Amino acid sequence: MIAIGCDHAGVELKKDVIKFLTEKGFELKDMGTDGEPCDYPNMAKTVCGLVTSGECEKGILICGTGIGMSIAANKIKGIRAAVCSDSFSTKFTRLHNDSNIMCMGARVLGSGLACELAEIFVTTGFEGGRHQRRVDLITEIENNN
Ligand code: RB5
Repeated sequence: MIAIGCDHAGVELKKDVIKFLTEKGFELKDMGTDGEPCDYPNMAKTVCGLVTSGECEKGILICGTGIGMSIAANKIKGIRAAVCSDSFSTKFTRLHNDSNIMCMGARVLGSGLACELAEIFVTTGFEGGRHQRRVDLITEIENNN
C-alpha cells in the first residue's frame, strides 16, 4: 500500500499519479487534500505517519515545489524523503538511500514525468550492502539529535 497526499497546489497532479499507479496495479491510500487549502506540514505528518506505523510501505507527497513537503517529512523519525524531479535521482534514492517518501513539485513537473518517476520510486528496491551502513549512519544522526 502506498500513501499519497498533497496540498492545494498538488491536487490535479495527485489525481493523475493515483490514476496512473492504480492502472498499473498498485494500491494507494489517498489522504487528500481534494481541493481545500491545506498546510503542507500537516499533510506530510499524516502521510509519513502511515509509513512509520507500517500501514503503508512508502509515501508520495506533492506540493508546489516538493521542497516544503520534503523538509517537513524529513523531520519525522524514520522518514527518508527525497525531492524527485528526474529519473536518475529517483532510481538512486531508492537504491542507495532507501528513501521511503518521494516528494514532487506540481509546479515543477509535468504529469507524464511525475507518473513515470512515481513508478520508478515504487518499483525500485534498496541495494543494501555498503548503503545499509550509510543509512544506519543517518539513523544514528537522527537518534542523537
Ligand atoms: C503553496 O502555495 C506552496 O508554498 C507549497 O505548495 C509548497 O510549494 C511549499 O514548499
